[in-house]
Amino acid sequence: MLNWDDPLAGLTGTCNKQAACLPTHRDDAFPPSHGEIPASSSPRATGFDVLPGEVRPAAKTDTALPFILARPGNTGLTGATGLESIEMGAKRIQVDDKKIINCRADLNQLVPFKYQWAWQKYLDACANHWMPQEINMNADIALWKSADGLTEDERTIIKRNLGFFSTADSLVANNLVLAVYRHITNPECRQYLLRQSFEEALHTHAYQYVVESLGLDEGEVFNMYRELPAVARKAEWALPFTQHLSDPHFHTGTPENDQRLLRELIAFYVIFEGIFFYVGFTQILSMGRRNKMTGTAEQFQYIMRDESMHMNFGIDVINQIKVENPHLWSESFKTEMVRMIREAVEIETQYAYDTMPRGILGLNAPMFKEYLEFIANRRCAQIGLPEQYPGVNNPFPWMSEVLDLKKEKNFFETRVTEYQTGGALNWD
Ligand SMILES: [Fe+2]
Ligand SMILES: [Fe+2]
Repeated sequence: MLNWDDPLAGLTGTCNKQAACLPTHRDDAFPPSHGEIPASSSPRATGFDVLPGEVRPAAKTDTALPFILARPGNTGLTGATGLESIEMGAKRIQVDDKKIINCRADLNQLVPFKYQWAWQKYLDACANHWMPQEINMNADIALWKSADGLTEDERTIIKRNLGFFSTADSLVANNLVLAVYRHITNPECRQYLLRQSFEEALHTHAYQYVVESLGLDEGEVFNMYRELPAVARKAEWALPFTQHLSDPHFHTGTPENDQRLLRELIAFYVIFEGIFFYVGFTQILSMGRRNKMTGTAEQFQYIMRDESMHMNFGIDVINQIKVENPHLWSESFKTEMVRMIREAVEIETQYAYDTMPRGILGLNAPMFKEYLEFIANRRCAQIGLPEQYPGVNNPFPWMSEVLDLKKEKNFFETRVTEYQTGGALNWD
């Protein structure tokens, strides 16, 4: 395990119901209007606190319900939490009792499985475990420290992406733990959410590890989303979508609130993790393809593989909620989701321009515009929305290869790893 005092140079670094059997997705590649409340009304930081210039949604207090509702005999609308009193002699769980949202069955009983895809994704994620310290950063350290190793434009790309991702993954983790988890009322999905939460912690760890390895100014990198508009914009866009779900007074169980949950799942899984990460991933991975910052690129490759699984899980959850609650997927809601996705493409395209005002590495910002439109078409298809950008192609076909599952597996099987877990323990 690294210490702040260590010299950098020495581092080495079959389901039971038809409706539950959605196809597994494989990826190859305006916030709602809110009232404003002052930041100071929040007694302590949650990770969802306002950024400069952001409008925060008003807390909803008119429908306040107790946090734990499903005590025996309780007839509240909302789903179980897993923290209800134990009802002695209650009947055993049946598969038909299980639902993704607003489920009243005991959430502490993992089986019988209803959503086999969720359990399989949990198993797949565990099988792909990795740690940031397994990746050798020596070549990156040497290149970063050499005066003519990298151009200023290349350094800008590295720093701005570390700036964006280092806080973005903490934001995603806080959203999962403090907002999403409580409203997903299915144990096998929660099992994956717990795994995903850990992976988000690993991602933040990976960015910290790169920052430390390269000897970057940690204050500059981790505070970048409060100092640099290009980095702040995406977090500012996402924050209003988590602040409703994290409100302890918010509960699903009405069409309006169920739609709010669905909207916010789309905002985080389809847009934040499915669109807003892809300019940065492409920039860093293309650097690695040119044999520059290969350790950093390898960290990003592992992270992108995880993120692709997160997004595919989120899409399965979204589609399952649609199957079980078709009234939520109204024409007006679909129109709103299309508008959100198109807005996200514009924001991420602007990020491409802000991070690489001049073309480098055989890349330029207009190529990213087409790439993002190509990705947005895929995202729309994955959740059942019409294609938005007809005729666009993928200018970075190699990104699809990087995401290809077989290659990823080979990649893992062939790498030389030195597990640090045991060696990291200090018994003194
Ligand atoms: Fe992540
Ligand atoms: Fe993620």
